[in-house]
Amino acid sequence: MNAESRARLNQTPEWTALAAHREQLGEVQLRELFAADPARGTSYTLQVGDLHIDYSKHLVTDETLRLLRELAAATDVFGLRDAMFRGEKINTTEDRAVLHTALRAPSDTVVRVDGENVVPEVHTVLDKMSAFSEKIRSGEWTGHTGKRIKNVVNVGIGGSDLGPAMAYEALRSFTDRGLTVRFVSNVDGADLHEAVRDLDAAETLFIIASKTFTTIETITNATSAREWLLGELKASPDAVAKHFVALSTNAEKVADFGIDTNNMFEFWDWVGGRYSFDSAIGLSLMIAIGPDRFREMLDGFHLVDKHFRAAPPESNVPLLLGLLGVWYGNFHDAQSHAVLPYSHYLSKFTAYLQQLDMESNGKYVGRDGEEVDWQTGPVVWGTPGTNGQHAYYQLIHQGTKLIPADFIGFAQPVAELAPGLAAQHDLLMANFFAQTQALAFGKTPDEVRAEGVAEELVPHKTFKGNHPTTTILAKELTPSVLGQLIALYEHKVFVQGAVWNIDSFDQWGVELGKVLAKRVEPALTEGAEVPDLDGSTTALVAKYRDLRGR
Ligand code: F6P
Repeated sequence: MNAESRARLNQTPEWTALAAHREQLGEVQLRELFAADPARGTSYTLQVGDLHIDYSKHLVTDETLRLLRELAAATDVFGLRDAMFRGEKINTTEDRAVLHTALRAPSDTVVRVDGENVVPEVHTVLDKMSAFSEKIRSGEWTGHTGKRIKNVVNVGIGGSDLGPAMAYEALRSFTDRGLTVRFVSNVDGADLHEAVRDLDAAETLFIIASKTFTTIETITNATSAREWLLGELKASPDAVAKHFVALSTNAEKVADFGIDTNNMFEFWDWVGGRYSFDSAIGLSLMIAIGPDRFREMLDGFHLVDKHFRAAPPESNVPLLLGLLGVWYGNFHDAQSHAVLPYSHYLSKFTAYLQQLDMESNGKYVGRDGEEVDWQTGPVVWGTPGTNGQHAYYQLIHQGTKLIPADFIGFAQPVAELAPGLAAQHDLLMANFFAQTQALAFGKTPDEVRAEGVAEELVPHKTFKGNHPTTTILAKELTPSVLGQLIALYEHKVFVQGAVWNIDSFDQWGVELGKVLAKRVEPALTEGAEVPDLDGSTTALVAKYRDLRGR
């Protein structure tokens, strides 16, 4: 079924059936669901690769799940999935294939775009990245003055920053600790300043990561980085060749910038920015963890790709997680979704997911060009769990909003922790388990009274519970497990976009701000007359110039 001929989502019998079912379930309580089915804690679980998924603490019954799967069938989620894997141009507004899955496909896979098998070139670039990474890691590649490279600075933004920055944090214990790896994204000059102020330029490699190589923030920072390097080294522009490499789809712009295209690592327009960090965009990560670990990560992605492609609806984890999001967003009015990792190493994981999810599914127009009249992507937010507990969990427990949440935790601390620090892991995980327990089952007024609490405090100390959570538990955070986790979320986002009938692979919503910034900038920097802006912006620009002394 194509997007144009599809019935309006909220007029389908499957949607109506879900709405009626929601009505009938009313305020069903997790306490009741567990009382009715004591095995729920084990039967409402799935396994994909190393990830154990517990979805027992959701406001769903077997009937809910069946109806959600019917909605997925009616909206042809698996048909669109197959079209994506086949290399069809499912990103219709940009007329592009969507093939991040080809980036982690084994070398004997065949995936054609416009008749060409793209997998061989994926592996050619991976091999080139591996060879380059080894040269940096071994010290064979030296800077302009002959010094070994000890610092790697990735300059990029959005999908050309968040993925490698997140994964570098996540896999820190697998990194070469002799290398300093930093990430510069913000056009605020403070970002680059802080990244390089204590570095020796002679030992520093800049990786300029930009799919388009036209992104103003990245090109501005790259230009400043080049000036800094040449100034520090007191060298002529030919020093750039040993200190700058590019990750891009745009060889012409890379050459214009002055980077030798031999030092360019290519990817393709069928890789969306937010789906790109397992392409050449991962070079900084590969240098940090080494090619073997990087390939383990790709294998982790691929494992979940295979699962998404082959697992039946009843045990298909991305399908399930996507549909649970539909259930809360469209039938419970939930506006946001929290992702709460119980791992210090996943401190940037939710920020990464924000782009993945919100840039993909933050759309109000369907693939048929019509405005949707149902909710689409949620606000995704969160930070590592224990810190959140002492900050915003109050609102999740006792606020007035329904906030479904994912809890992600690991049975083992990372191997390199000293025994005393490793022993803290049980305390971390005790919090992990306790929080989903408290969120689900709460504390009744009678339980509060039984503790001897004064009657006037009873309402304040009562926890209504019934806050839905998914628990994702794995043995340890390895490169493969990280790849599995990311692929899981990529496909979850895919499922939701397919159900909502939106193009999850374009991002037109970021364009207007870019255009307006270009229009405003001359008025700020050149002291020119304020152009024809709206009243508020004109006044703000005037105030800014006044404060800036212009
Ligand atoms: O403006 C949004 C965006 O296009 C993202 O989708 C992308 O990841 C980011 O900018 C960076 O783009 P590029 O890699 O082309 O510099």
